Amino acid sequence: MTDKTSNQMWGGRFAAGPGAIMEAINASIGFDQRMAAQDIAGSRAHAAMLAATGVITDNDAEAIREGLLTVLSEIDSGNFTFSTALEDIHMNVEARLKEIIGEPAGRLHTGRSRNDQVATDFKLWVRDQLDAAANGLEVLIAALVDQAEAGADWVMPGFTHLQTAQPVTWGHHMMAYVEMFGRDLSRVRDARARMNECPLGAAALAGTSFPIDRDMTAEALGFDRPAANSLDAVSDRDFALEFLSVASICAMHLSRFAEELVIWSSAQFRFVTLSDRFSTGSSIMPQKKNPDAAELIRAKVGRIFGANTALMMVMKGLPLAYSKDMQEDKEQVFDAADNWMLALAAMSGMVKDMTANRDSLAAAAGSGFSTATDLADWMVRVLKVPFRDAHHVTGALVAMAEARGCDLPDLSLADMKSVHEGISDDIFTVLGVENSVNSRLSYGGTAPEQVRAQVARWKKALG
Ligand code: ARG
Repeated sequence: MTDKTSNQMWGGRFAAGPGAIMEAINASIGFDQRMAAQDIAGSRAHAAMLAATGVITDNDAEAIREGLLTVLSEIDSGNFTFSTALEDIHMNVEARLKEIIGEPAGRLHTGRSRNDQVATDFKLWVRDQLDAAANGLEVLIAALVDQAEAGADWVMPGFTHLQTAQPVTWGHHMMAYVEMFGRDLSRVRDARARMNECPLGAAALAGTSFPIDRDMTAEALGFDRPAANSLDAVSDRDFALEFLSVASICAMHLSRFAEELVIWSSAQFRFVTLSDRFSTGSSIMPQKKNPDAAELIRAKVGRIFGANTALMMVMKGLPLAYSKDMQEDKEQVFDAADNWMLALAAMSGMVKDMTANRDSLAAAAGSGFSTATDLADWMVRVLKVPFRDAHHVTGALVAMAEARGCDLPDLSLADMKSVHEGISDDIFTVLGVENSVNSRLSYGGTAPEQVRAQVARWKKALG
């Protein structure tokens, strides 16, 4: 009896049987070709070092150097044929080098292994991405600082529980995100400094008996120093995990801000108008302008944090040193990096393009009894009433206004006095939202003066 299921399984792509299946599961060339430039840079540094230490001849090193440059230009120009049978980028490059320069190519792999090679390539790749993320964050921070400067004294409602709390300034709200993305930037820099140790020369796991100079390769590749333990150097992927966790935290910040933009751009809020360049229309509802870029940024945190979790699970039970499981590190990091960079660019574009609707912000700022705290504070300051009592009186006035369907400043002085005799005409000055924000001068507070000071500090920091 023929087993249809197994026939189908062995059919199609895997018709050739176990060999084809093994090749498919084993190969990483489909994705690790993205590290071609790093692989060739690592090999050039290694070959130069082997010549300097007398392990190979200068002639061989020169042939290797020129051959690698040819391979790189073939890859860059799309004239390179990647082979799955050659498994990964390391063997694809080396095999092609052999075709071009012959025998000296075989000397390149002296005193190294694919284990330290892949760790080096991957670190170089992740390091480039950290640099790109730092640039992206700086652009985004600068765009937010510009928004904050333009609207340093524009009033808007501040929320807790998404309920109107106290008036704040637009500039203050923008600068809150500047602080978050500023910490992301410092996390990027920390991660970069910590990972900047070179694995090359750790060889398979134990080091090598050849008299290599690891300081020389580390320096040539822009690392601070060689990694100090060969077992660790080939086993460590925490630099990739740190990249993913920094990316996850930043993506979470991007997602929160994106969520606010979705809410703020709705017809019910109208706090901001997003540009057409970062929105789309609906195919059926002509009135709609959808904040698609913001929604997609909001969603990106899912796959980025997913990558972090996935790599954590890959690594968690691995004995030292290298295991093939670790080949599963790259696709997660590549995907997270691509989407992090894209989200940063899209957010910067949206922030640069968006218009804050000053009038809508101001109209909303005064609603919802947003200056109730100012009323209570005034009673404490002027009437020397204990805060808890002032809170109680204010609550009664809010209830009165609510019952009448008006706002606090719409109550008459007589209304106020009916709740607390001591209240005088002066109270009406503190019930205005402009007064409210201007009074919050404490360090880090929402007063325009404070916002401008923070804007100046950031402008100086960004240079
Ligand atoms: N393609 C492999 C990876 O990405 C390279 C290292 C292979 N090392 C080995 N001993 N099989 O991890």
